[in-house]
Parts: sequence; C-alpha cells; structure tokens
Amino acid sequence: MTTHGTTHSGSSTTFDPWYDHYADRTAGLSASEVRALFAVASRPEVVSLAGGMPFVSALPPELVTASLARVMRDSGPQALQYGSGQGTPELREHILEIMALEGIRGSVDDVVVTTGSQQALDLVTKLFIDPGDVVLAEAPSYVGAIGVFRSYQAEIAHVMMDADGLIPSSLRESIAALKAAGKTIKFLYTIPTFHNPAGVTLSWQRRIEILEICRSNGILVLEDNPYGLLYFDSPPPHAMRSVEAEGVIYLGSFSKTLAPGFRVGWALAPHAIREKLILANESAILSPSAFSQYAILEYLRGADWRAQINTFRSVYRERRDAMLTALQEHLPEMSWTVPTGGFYVWLNLPPNLDSKEMLPRAVKELVAYTPGTAFYADGTGRQHIRLSFCYPTPDAIRLGVRRLTAVINGELELLNTFANTGQLEAVHESAHVSNPPPNIN
Ligand SMILES: Cc1ncc(COP(=O)(O)O)c(C=O)c1O
Repeated sequence: MTTHGTTHSGSSTTFDPWYDHYADRTAGLSASEVRALFAVASRPEVVSLAGGMPFVSALPPELVTASLARVMRDSGPQALQYGSGQGTPELREHILEIMALEGIRGSVDDVVVTTGSQQALDLVTKLFIDPGDVVLAEAPSYVGAIGVFRSYQAEIAHVMMDADGLIPSSLRESIAALKAAGKTIKFLYTIPTFHNPAGVTLSWQRRIEILEICRSNGILVLEDNPYGLLYFDSPPPHAMRSVEAEGVIYLGSFSKTLAPGFRVGWALAPHAIREKLILANESAILSPSAFSQYAILEYLRGADWRAQINTFRSVYRERRDAMLTALQEHLPEMSWTVPTGGFYVWLNLPPNLDSKEMLPRAVKELVAYTPGTAFYADGTGRQHIRLSFCYPTPDAIRLGVRRLTAVINGELELLNTFANTGQLEAVHESAHVSNPPPNIN
C-alpha cells in the first residue's frame, strides 16, 4: 500500500523522498512472485518446486576451470577488456552452429550477444514499444517477459493455448478484436518449445500457421527459445526462425544448456533490425561481458558440449518422470501438462481452489510453488500452479508433491466443510503463516 510518499511493505515503513520524481513507467516495476519466493523457498527444509534454476551441479566443475585457465593463458588481455557491442565474432560463429541444431540458418553478422536472453527481451521491447502498444503473448507467459513489457508500458494481450501450444484461431480473433479497437500491435512474444510456465510445445503445423497469421497482419514474432535443446525423447519441431527470417527475432541463451552465471544469451535479428539492436546494446551496456564470452568460447572449443547437454537432458528427464509419477500417484483426479522437455509442469487445480491464497499454507507445510497468477498480466491464473522439476532431486520432488497433496486435500476439506457458510476467508486468514513471505502478490 502506498500513501503520499510513504511505502508500506510487510511490517516495515519507509519514507522515499523521491516518490514524486519517478518516471511513469516505474509503475510497472514490482517484485515478481518468483523473486519473492526465492527468499522463502531457499530455506533448506522447504522443498522448492518454485524457481526455474538449472541444476548446474550436473556440470563438472573441471570443465569450467579448464576453460577459465585457457582464457587467461591465451586471451587474458582481450577477455579482461571491453569488447564489441555485438559480441565476439568467434562466439557468434559457435552460436550459429548451436542454432543449426534447431534448423536455423543465419549470418554471423545478424547475431547480437546480450547479457542473457533477458536483456535481449529488454532491448527488443525498448526498440519497438511506445506506451500503450500491444504485445501479444501466450496465456500464461514467462513472468520475466511480462515484467519487461510492463516496464515499457506495453499493453499485454494474452492468447489462449492448449496442449499443442498457442491456438491459431484465438490469435486471429485477438488480432481482429485489437485492430477493431484501434490498438497498435507491435509483436507476438512466444515460447514455442517447452513453454515456461505451461510445459507444452507448439506443433509444427501451428508454427507455420502462426507465422502466416503474423506475416499477413504485419506483426513481428519474438521467438524465445532457451529450452529447445533440452528434449527428453525426440527433438522438438524446428524453431519458427528456421522457416521465416525476415519476420522473426529469435532469442537463445547459454543459461540452460551451460550455466546462467555467465549471463550470456543472444538475439538473431532480421538484417534490418540488427543494427538498431547493436546500438541499443551499446547504449545499455557498452558491450556484453568479454570474460564470459571467452569462457564460453573456450568451453565450446575444449569440452564435449553436446555430451554435456545430453547429461542435462537425462537429469531433467529423470526429474520430470519423478514429478509425473508422483502426481499420478497422489493427485490422480487432477490434470497437468506433460512436458517432453524443459523444466515445468502446469497443474490445474479443482474449481474454487486458489493457488495464491494457498501458498502461505503450502510454505508452512514446507513446499513452495509458483502460483499461476505470476504468469498473467491480468491477475488471472489462480486455478493454476507452475511446478518446476529442474532443481530438486527426484526424492525431493516426490516429497514435495506429497506435501503439496496434503495442502490441496486440506484446502478441499475446508471448502467442503465451510461451503455455503461464507466462512472460508476467515479460515484462510487464521491459517496464514505467522511470518508470511513478503511481496507475494
Ligand atoms: C522463457 C524464458 N526466457 C528468458 C529467460 C531468461 O534467461 P537468461 O538467463 O538467458 O536471461 C528465461 C529464464 O528462465 C526463460 O524461462
């Protein structure tokens, strides 16, 4: 709650003398639910099915230390120096090789290295969005992208998905309705492969159809693909960028196939956009970290990175299996998505259950998840939960699902007991943990 220069957060009250000075766009800045949860869920006794942290311990440390040693031996002065605003040419060559695994062919000149794909999201939004412009995004969508779009005062229009990803007919309808309302649609933001948070993958046929819809409506596609190489069985359909070069900005990242600590991602942009992207990158950060880029370059040269991605795949496949088996065993009457890669399962709760309301009770029972509301710009999503299987061990996942089941069953019992009495809210109030996590909103 905010009143005249005084902000209240939890029990603390701070006076901000600059309260009236902030730019309008800062109204879109709020602590994400995921971020707030990291603090709570990091307590060791809590099983966290909340965050999307890669399991970096599956990366042998010696592979990294050997790369770092070679960086300092062979390229120390360059690695410690400012670099090019576009990223080092050698790394961009390797990035082309990696993207080729998903059917993409492009020019090294059109790759722009960024500080994680998160920064690429920020740059693209900065380049295209004026306040009030519309970004189309799946319902639900990646919480970090929603935050960026909000911070540039975009209007976010969610488009329905099903088990095969974004629904083309819903996209058509949304575009028609927005155009009829006189809105300016700037781009479609999509995570077609192993969606965060929904866990689903857009079928090949739909990829083609959606590209066609966007092409005929003059809408740019922003394809965000950090998980595409983390498939569990067979490879997913090729990237949308493999079909269409001029109308797609493609984002990739080393965060999930190597480690997020390097903070290196990239954009492959249509030639016409590329120059503006480089200028925006230089204006934001001068140059992406040369040190991280050299470290990754040495890793790609010296380590069997394909084998390492296979290792990640088998770690995550085992965890996905543990989660699906536990859900089937404990919550058979509920429904969830079945991911064929990536990090996430999307759980649908029975009607009347509220994932956001239920969270403090879950944390009290030592399990954390991300409520569906984090992934919608419009406050909906209460009937959904994102469960991440990337970080906890299979045993912890099983324990977490058992705990979650107890919480859900407890809520259902309460609902049955207090149905029609109007007392459930009062019960929720008294059931909140004594020290609720801050900023879960
Ligand atoms: C869909 C999606 N896009 C972008 C990102 C940001 O990743 P990076 O570490 O490359 O900035 C994430 C991180 O979880 C993500 O899930």
